[in-house]
Amino acid sequence: MVKESMAGPPAQRGAAGERSVAGGVSPRSRGRRGLARSAATLAILVAAAGCDALTTQAPDPGDIFDGPLPGLTPEELAAFVRGDEAFGRPFSPNEGLGPIFNNVSCASCHSGDGRGRVENAFTRFSIGEDLVPHLGGPQLQDKAIFGAIPEQLPPGVQTSLRLPPPVFGVGLIEAIPEEVILALADPHDANGDGISGRPNIVVPEDFVPLDEVGGFIPDSVGAGRPQLGRFGRKGAVGSLLLQVAKAYHEDMGITNDFLPVENRNRQVGRVADAADRVPDPELPESELRSVLSYLRTLAPPAPGAMTPRREQGKALFASTGCTGCHTPELRTGPSQTAALSEKPVRLYSDLLLHDMGDALADGRPDGQATGREWKTAPLWGLRIMREFLNGDAFLMHDGRARSVEEAIRIHGGEAQKARDAFLRLSPAARAALLDYVESL
Ligand code: HEC
Ligand code: HEC
Repeated sequence: MVKESMAGPPAQRGAAGERSVAGGVSPRSRGRRGLARSAATLAILVAAAGCDALTTQAPDPGDIFDGPLPGLTPEELAAFVRGDEAFGRPFSPNEGLGPIFNNVSCASCHSGDGRGRVENAFTRFSIGEDLVPHLGGPQLQDKAIFGAIPEQLPPGVQTSLRLPPPVFGVGLIEAIPEEVILALADPHDANGDGISGRPNIVVPEDFVPLDEVGGFIPDSVGAGRPQLGRFGRKGAVGSLLLQVAKAYHEDMGITNDFLPVENRNRQVGRVADAADRVPDPELPESELRSVLSYLRTLAPPAPGAMTPRREQGKALFASTGCTGCHTPELRTGPSQTAALSEKPVRLYSDLLLHDMGDALADGRPDGQATGREWKTAPLWGLRIMREFLNGDAFLMHDGRARSVEEAIRIHGGEAQKARDAFLRLSPAARAALLDYVESL
């Protein structure tokens, strides 16, 4: 039957996709991921085929990082399955990988389509606001295909280690109207709560189509109109298409219709130019768009069941001030895709920038974000994070926190008051708050 023959390849590809160059993925997470991926795909195909009985032990749709949003049309579901495949596709040098790169597939960094491990983090570098392209900035590609030379960190630059964030729910994030997010900003702390969220306003590259959220809209002199940044650890990217095109180009060395010129190691001159002989662009636009539509319809995991202890934790989450930045719910506006239209987005983030204090500062500006500011990390999906990271937890922009409690303890700057309020709680109250956050 169709569903069996179609359910096979994603499982094999899931395993192949874990052939992470940079990350030591253990057999356990590989097994879990392969299972989740194949079972999810099977469940989708069963749903798409309209069968009434599920014949496999698929995980609950809310228990995975790579399930589709509810309410997709059969066409959208089919596109989702195709995009899932492309997201997991590992590239080899004869398919265009490199010449310099960080990893071989999207899924090898974004484990289970959720957050990555520190082994898969990459380093951005610059000198002040100068992205130093002549030195190979702003991203260190520390791997190279045979015949090319990996980049090395130049001396005297500021660096910032970036853990791959989860990619589920980005379609919902994209569908939140700009004014909803801007309404939460309080740049001068007019309400006196010590928290001053700021948007990162960025100008997109001129190839980002104008009908995209965050696309390039020329103004009277042909410059781009500034747009709200939503993606990335500092919210420096306003368009999902741009994020994906750059991920192919910078993270994997895959040229595409939007970025057709190979990213080469500028530190070594032209010696290694011939290493990648695959004609550019290396990726058909249809495959890039397939990944884009996959990400747009990728659902966040469902939160866990409420218990009396979690109810208490929820109240403490508000009273200690976490909700000052981790806004529990935003809402999408009208969308062509019914599954994205006028929906609640329970992400626990205001998507704004906050000064998080010295300990977290990277001293490296990104768009309008200063070297002390970070975008509030969404908290959805924390409930099942460890399942996809081989039992580990990596939190904050560089993965330095290994538990939710540790993450809270290193909140500083605008979040200092909330952190101190958390630390003043009784052990039982603290445990309730943690239990709640880990149920999201
Ligand atoms: C080498 C590891 C790596 C690879 C490979 C990679 N990413 Fe990422 N991705 C990251 C990191 C790190 C960030 C955060 C970057 C930052 O904040 O500067 C990120 C951010 C993102 C985001 C923004 C999420 C958000 O909410 O802010 C999306 C979407 C994304 N990646 C999609 C992709 C896609 C699609 C591919 C494959 C074409 C891909 N990534 C390949 C590491 C990777
Ligand atoms: C002033 C804004 C602010 C307040 C208040 C705040 N946070 Fe955060 N939180 C952030 C930002 C910004 C990040 C991302 C920091 C980074 O990337 O290094 C973050 C990250 C986190 C993370 C890690 C998420 C991840 O995916 O890495 C957790 C967990 C968290 N916060 C929980 C809490 C809790 C619980 C409270 C209340 C006690 C709280 N936060 C209060 C802004 C805030």
